[in-house]
Amino acid sequence: LAAKLPESDPATGEVKRPQFGTRFLTDPRQVFQHNAWDNVEWTEEQEASAKKKVLENSQPLPTEKQEEYEGRANEYWNDFYTIHENRFFKDRHWLFTEFPELAPQCSLNNDSHPQVSGADDSQQDSLEREQRIDVAALSLTDDDAPGSSATYRILEVGCGVGNTVFPILKTNNDPGLFVYCCDFSSTAVELVKTNPEYDPGRCLAFVHDLSDVEANYPVHDGTLDVIVLIFVLSALHPDKMQASIRRLARLLKPGGVMLLRDYGRYDMAQLRFKKGRCLSENFYVRGDGTRVYFFTQDELHEMFTEAGLEKVQNLVDRRLQVNRGKQLTMYRVWIQCKYRKAPVQPAKTEG
Ligand SMILES: C[S@@+](CC[C@H](N)C(=O)[O-])C[C@H]1O[C@@H](n2cnc3c(N)ncnc32)[C@H](O)[C@@H]1O
Repeated sequence: LAAKLPESDPATGEVKRPQFGTRFLTDPRQVFQHNAWDNVEWTEEQEASAKKKVLENSQPLPTEKQEEYEGRANEYWNDFYTIHENRFFKDRHWLFTEFPELAPQCSLNNDSHPQVSGADDSQQDSLEREQRIDVAALSLTDDDAPGSSATYRILEVGCGVGNTVFPILKTNNDPGLFVYCCDFSSTAVELVKTNPEYDPGRCLAFVHDLSDVEANYPVHDGTLDVIVLIFVLSALHPDKMQASIRRLARLLKPGGVMLLRDYGRYDMAQLRFKKGRCLSENFYVRGDGTRVYFFTQDELHEMFTEAGLEKVQNLVDRRLQVNRGKQLTMYRVWIQCKYRKAPVQPAKTEG
C-alpha cells in the first residue's frame, strides 16, 4: 500500500493536524510509522548543513528584478488566486487550540467548564449577552461604520480566501463579534465576499496593502481586540515589515493581542529553493512571482517589542513530515507568536 502525503495547504505547506505538539518521535527507527512528528530536535550537524545550504544559495537577483517583484507583488498574488481560486480552502482545526483568542467564550465553555449546561446557565448566558448588546449600543460611534457597535473586534491581515475568517465566524458565536479582514489581492477579497458564508452583518472584507503604512484601515486606532497574521508577514519585503507591525500595533486596544504564525528559518521550503530565487538574506521569490521570508524567533521578538508590544508567546514549531510511500522525511519549521499591548494601568488612588 502506498502511503499518501498528509493533506497539506498549497499556500503554506502546512499539514492539517488535530492538535499542536502531541506526537513525539522517541525511537528514530519508528520514523515511518506516522505521517508527522511534533517538536523534533535538530542535531547540530543538521543545523550546520541547513546553514551551509542557505549560504550557498544567497546570491541576490539584480535590482531591476527585485523592484519588479516588489512593484507588482499584488498582481502575482492575484494571478495565484485566479489559478487556485478556492481550491485550497482548508478548515484549520489547530486554529482554536493554538489561538483560543479567536473564540474566547468557546474555549471557556469547552475547556474550563466542560460539564456546564442546564436552564439556569443558559438563562445567565442570554442575560449576559443582552447586557453586552446594551453596552454595544451605547458605544455606537457617530460614524455607524461596519462593526462600530461590536464589542469584540478581530482583524485578519492577508486573509487570502478566508481560511481563518470563516472558521472564526462559524465558531465564535459572540453576538458582539465583528471580523474585519483584508488582503492586497483584490481577487482574494472578491473570493471572500462571494463565499456563501460571508455575512456583511458580522464581517467586512476589504482590499488593503499591509506595507502601505499611510493607508487608512476602516477601524479607529485602539479599537481592536485581536489582529491575526497567518503566513502573511513573510510575504512582505523585509525592509517594510517593522513599519507595518508598528502601524498595526496602533490599532490594538490596550490588552489587545497580535497573533502570528509564519515560516521559520531553515524550513524545508527555504532549503528547497533553487539557485537564482534569492532576493536578499532569507528572502526568496517562488516560480509564480510570490515572495517568502523565513524568520527566527529573535527577529520577530524584536519587531513586536519595537512596536511597543509585550511577549505572551514566541515558540518554534518543528515538525517532521513523512512520506511513508517514498520513505522521505521533510523538516518543517514554523514560528508562532502572541504579543500584547499593555492593558491600561488603573489610576492610583490616594490614601
Ligand atoms: C501565504 S498566503 C496566506 C493566506 C492566508 N493568511 C492563509 O493562511 O490561508 C499570503 C497572503 O498574504 C497576502 N499578502 C501578501 N502581501 C500582502 C500585503 N502587502 N498586504 C496585504 N496582503 C498581502 C497575499 O495576497 C496572500 O493572500
